[in-house]
Amino acid sequence: MKPLNIAHRGFSGRYPENTLLAFEKAIEAGCDGVELDVHLSADGELVIIHDELLDRTTNGTGFVKDKSLRELRELDASGSFCGQYGVNRIPTLTEYFDLIRGSGILTNIELKTSVFTYPGIEEKTLALIDQYDLRACTVISSFNHYSVLRMQALAPDMIYGFLEESRLIDIHGYAESHHVQAVHPEFHMVDEAFMKEAFKHGLAVNVWTVNTEEDIQEMADLGVGMIIGNYPDICRKVLS
Ligand code: G3P
Ligand code: MG
Repeated sequence: MKPLNIAHRGFSGRYPENTLLAFEKAIEAGCDGVELDVHLSADGELVIIHDELLDRTTNGTGFVKDKSLRELRELDASGSFCGQYGVNRIPTLTEYFDLIRGSGILTNIELKTSVFTYPGIEEKTLALIDQYDLRACTVISSFNHYSVLRMQALAPDMIYGFLEESRLIDIHGYAESHHVQAVHPEFHMVDEAFMKEAFKHGLAVNVWTVNTEEDIQEMADLGVGMIIGNYPDICRKVLS
């Protein structure tokens, strides 16, 4: 089966990452789904941004967790694309769901809970998914596997993946023992042996961040489930 073309932080290769513009452009480019990163603001709103700090991708400074939604919304999140596409605000997860509602687009929500654990983020995320009735087309992942398991306990019927960027011993057996359906490794970790082991343990393999034609083709040939990359246009071309 053909892998799914998942836009990493939206169409982040050509547009400001994790903004509504990047999500819209990814959909226009024909992606099957979107990967995005979620944190909590000081007043408990689910906001889409990659880093704990505002400094790299916005014209603000300091931690996301210390700012209210109102303060976050004043910032321009255009990052390195500053001035090219007007002002792009940090989106809320609600705004993103409004954008994709009814589109059939799959969403890979990455809970960014490794540095700050944001107590309550799993409950809030699930409540919003349910408000939009999107359990069936959402995949939850995190480098914080406790966070994944917290959400899995709340909603065992959803799809979960353990994110991993180091070559752990028996990652497959470990993932299976925690009843997650997928592993999400950095793509250089994946080869035939990795895929064989995944198959043995009944796991899907969803890889990131795959940006070149050659790498996309290699991952497709190996039989991964999702190719998460910054260029959904290139991925679409290779997969078709
Ligand atoms: O979810 C895949 C990928 O996004 C994980 O790494 O740092 O880009 O969020 P990062
Ligand atoms: Mg991510």
